[in-house]
This record gives sequence, C-alpha cells and structure tokens, in this order.
Amino acid sequence: AQKDASIRIYPEQGNQQISKHIYGQFAEHLGTCIYGGLWVGPESEIPNTQGYRNDVLNALKELKIPNLRWPGGCFADEYHWMDGIGPKENRPKMVNNNWGGTIEDNSFGTHEFLNLCELLGCEPYISANVGSGTVEEMAKWVEYMTSEGDSPMARLRRQNGRDKAWKVKFIGVGNESWGCGGSMRPEYYADLYRRYSTYCRNYDGNRLFKIASGASDYDYNWTETLMKNVGGRMDGISLHYYTVTGWNGSKGSATDFNKDDYYWTMGKCLEIEDVVRKHIQIMDKYDPQKKIGLMVDEWGTWWDEEPGTINGHLYQQNTMRDAFVAALTLNVFHKYTDRVRMTNIAQIVNVLQSMILTNGPKMLLTPTYYVFQMYNVHQDATFLPMDLICDKAKVRGGREVPMVSASASKDKNGRIHISLANVDVDNAQSITLDLQGQKIGSVKGRILTSASINDHNTFEKPDAVKPATFDGAKIEKGQLKIDLPAKSIVVLEVK
Ligand code: AHR
Repeated sequence: AQKDASIRIYPEQGNQQISKHIYGQFAEHLGTCIYGGLWVGPESEIPNTQGYRNDVLNALKELKIPNLRWPGGCFADEYHWMDGIGPKENRPKMVNNNWGGTIEDNSFGTHEFLNLCELLGCEPYISANVGSGTVEEMAKWVEYMTSEGDSPMARLRRQNGRDKAWKVKFIGVGNESWGCGGSMRPEYYADLYRRYSTYCRNYDGNRLFKIASGASDYDYNWTETLMKNVGGRMDGISLHYYTVTGWNGSKGSATDFNKDDYYWTMGKCLEIEDVVRKHIQIMDKYDPQKKIGLMVDEWGTWWDEEPGTINGHLYQQNTMRDAFVAALTLNVFHKYTDRVRMTNIAQIVNVLQSMILTNGPKMLLTPTYYVFQMYNVHQDATFLPMDLICDKAKVRGGREVPMVSASASKDKNGRIHISLANVDVDNAQSITLDLQGQKIGSVKGRILTSASINDHNTFEKPDAVKPATFDGAKIEKGQLKIDLPAKSIVVLEVK
C-alpha cells in the first residue's frame, strides 16, 4: 500500500552549520575493535600499512571521519598511557578488567593512535583517565602529545621516534565518572574536573577543547550540577544514550527480531530527541549564549553479543534496523546543531553498532556504514528548517513513531541534500516536497533498502545489503514527487 506525506523545506532560512563532528567515531580497547579490527601489526599476513589493515583503512577513508575518540569508554579510566609508548617489547601487559579480562599488551598506544588519525585525516579525541589516574599523568600526556619545545615529555616523544608534536584538539576529562569511571557523585566529579583540567595546558599553538564527563541518558541532575559548578571551565559536556532494552538480562538478538521489536527500537532511538532537548534546556539556563557544546560521545544500538563470540567483547551483527537507528538519530542531531557540536557512534569496528565487522582476514561493511557514507554530504553544511507531515504509529513502550524522518542541508556549493527514511515496513510513501520556489535543475539520489528489516551482511554474503541508485524522485511543477519504498533510506541531491 501507499501513504501520502508532505515536506516543506526553507532553503533561505538556514542559519546554523551542521558540525562535521556530529559524524564522529569511537574506538575503544574492547574486544576486537583495535586488535584485529583496526590494527594487525606490521608483521601480520593481513595486508596492512604500518600495522593498520588496508581494507579497513580504505573503507574508513570513504566515510570522511571528522574525529575519532580513543582509548575508551570504560577502558580509558584504567589506561595508563606511559605503558603504551616506547619499544613494544618493553611495554607492560595489563588485564582489560572492563571487557572480558582480556590481556592487553599495549602494542597499540599513543603513537599508533595519533598516526592513525593522521592517516584518516581526522581529529583525535583523547579520553583521559580521571578514575584511576593522576593529575600529573594527564598533564604529562598532554605535554607528550602537543609540546613542541624542549620540555621533558617532548624530549621523550622524540626519543620514541616522533619529532613534531601532534595537534590534539579534543580531550575528555574522564568517562562515565558516575559509573565505570569512578562511581562519583556529580559534585565531587565537578571539583575533580576543575582540578584535572587546570593542568591540561595549551602548548605551542595547540588549543585544547576540554570535554567534561557528562550524564547517562535521563540523569538531568548530573548536567545541572556540572553546569552550575563547572560552567565555562568546560568547552563541552558529554551525554551517553544507547538504544538498548535495559541493562539487566538479554538485550535481544541483533538479527532475530520481529516487526514489533523493530518499531520499539525506532521509538527508543527517537526518544534521544526528548533527552537531548531536556539537557539543552538545563544548559540554556546557565549558558544562554550556547558556548558550551553538548557532545553525545556515545550512542547507538546495544544488542546481545553474537552467539559463540567472547563474553564481554560486545561483538554484534548489524541489520537494516540498525541502519534506521543511525539515519533517524543523525536526522535528530542535525536539528540541535547550535548546541550538539559532536557525537560519536559506538563503535567503529567490531563493537556494538559498528561500521565494519572483521573476521580474520575477512571484512564486511554494515548497513550502518552505508548510512554514514550516504549522509556525509551533510558535514559542515547549513541546516535547513523543514515542516514534515506524515502518518504516526503507536508502538510498544507507549511511544509514537512518525513513519517518515527527514533532514536537509545546503552545502558550500549551493547543493541541497535531503536525507529521508521511510520507517514503515509495509507501506511506501508518496512524498510531495516543496522547496519554496527554489529552482530545481536536477535531482539524483541513492537508496539503502532490503527485502527484510532483518537483512544484514555476512562474511559469506558481504554485499547482501548495500546502496543503489535511486530514481524515485521526479521534478513536477517546481516541486519534487518522491516515491519512497517501504523500509528505505534515501539521500537526494538537488541542484
Ligand atoms: O561503548 C561501550 C561502553 O559503554 C563504554 O566503554 C562505556 O563508556 C559505556 O558504558
């Protein structure tokens, strides 16, 4: 069946830029994200460049990753950076207590990470240890990475083979300090933030953007306390929001779910809008000029681990359902771009809602990867306001889900990009799209869809789900008529 929807976009009313940093990624020492996923070491038989897998590197370059958060997550608050520098044979091993008790050999450390960022052309986002680390340790890390002068840490860096300092902009002062990052109360963490961040210095033209460890989804008191007690000492405050059924018991299979589960997932993922709005309301009270950014530096789906994989490694498959979570969430973030300056989906490879899955020498791109690839046209473009009228459905969990999600932006060359998702599993949408008299010369697009919302790529069939050319948009009397198939995600380019 077919439903009708209408969209009106206001191309002349855009006045906010969608920060490219909304398309940030996250790489934690967790499962096979780093070891096996990004890094195989220079001695590996898997084709690599200085130890980074070529297949993964090439695929990631296509995404135009703006920033990469590392080394955690929970791992960050047990990580001691000095264990990860110098000759590999001298680096001590540690137990990764958060993630399956795996032995971490520290062969991937600061140099390996910052060089990876250079290869990917992205900004590093260092998540530094407050939970079990000292102020001195954090201060020296910043000096090691960014000082150009004749300082002790710059000398040590040179001794380890890197002459020029790296540019490091983003630094997170702790992670989930209310939980795995130290089980703190917000008042106590606020004081610690003030103390630790004081000694994160700006060396030689490097300017740090300091991010405080923020709230977990509905914890508005955390944001309130930090805004009150830290305020302008932070450049950003983080927020974590997972599309997850709950923290006890099964979280549900990543691939084996029904329509009801799918619609529940859409409702839960869209609730991020309400959550973001409420944190912003609090921030607006203390910072009406919106100087402090809200950095959603962990988000995405969290399902049961794939059967047969190591407990605690959070290795999950990724279906069309996950692609919808990515598409809908990014469309939401665009709307709050005056406050939401960065987000990081969790995580880049082999962990949670990843872009890429690997298995030994094999690699596949997930449906989520393709959403990030199709959507990267919005990076740093001007957000265009829109009105959208479509059907809504009541879903399990008491939430209401609009059947169409959309977002539009204008890039620096004047091209308009419109991302559209038809959440409806059974009905196509016939969309009339009005651009307020803007001349439409041409329209083209790409579509991501599949026969079933459970479809996903496997190592045997890595191309089961992938984008195709979309020819369902036509120019008619100065407007666009779009036939958006059921369960599809489309990005249009209008010139
Ligand atoms: O992304 C996985 C984990 O989720 C992170 O380590 C932690 O910050 C969050 O609880």
